[in-house]
Amino acid sequence: MDVYEPAEDSELIKKHIKDFARGIVLDMGTGSGILAKEALKYAKTVYAADINPDAKRVEGVKFIESDLFSNIPKIKFDLILFNAPYLPNDEGIEDPALYGGKEGHETIFRFFSQAKEFLKADGKILLVFSSFTKQDKIDEFLTKNNWKFEEVDKVHISFEDIILYSVSLG
Ligand SMILES: C[S@@+](CC[C@H](N)C(=O)[O-])C[C@H]1O[C@@H](n2cnc3c(N)ncnc32)[C@H](O)[C@@H]1O
Repeated sequence: MDVYEPAEDSELIKKHIKDFARGIVLDMGTGSGILAKEALKYAKTVYAADINPDAKRVEGVKFIESDLFSNIPKIKFDLILFNAPYLPNDEGIEDPALYGGKEGHETIFRFFSQAKEFLKADGKILLVFSSFTKQDKIDEFLTKNNWKFEEVDKVHISFEDIILYSVSLG
């Protein structure tokens, strides 16, 4: 399966990793490994997970093939990175690197319904999504499920905004 080529969304989250990475980090949906590689500069241990068996293995990073947290050992992470597949499904096109479900936010919602068990009490999640994912839906979901969140950064590219959130336990 093709591996996601790093793009503006990867760069948006990558540039903030130095301010958040410490201790044990998980790079969810690692793709090319660009974020795991960056996290390795600042964290003690880095795990990377992807549903795509062809995702890149980065030296020094523990890779796990996994649908979200299904194969992740019961570890509490200091930081979880997720440049999520965030676009609403396009009819007839299948690409788990891009499409996050009918509305675009389904994979993100599934991720957050599993993430609590894997995050330290003072841990953080860095999440990337797009204006196509509908920010108000993300906000509503996070609030309803007792997550705290703030917008860390945003970049505008052609037709969309790419948004970076820092999310923590409420
Ligand atoms: C937008 S790409 C990001 C890749 C890389 N982290 C980056 O920033 O360039 C999303 C990644 O999430 C992976 N992914 C999609 N659904 C997943 C799932 N259910 N569990 C784990 N990884 C998933 C895709 O295979 C893809 O590598």
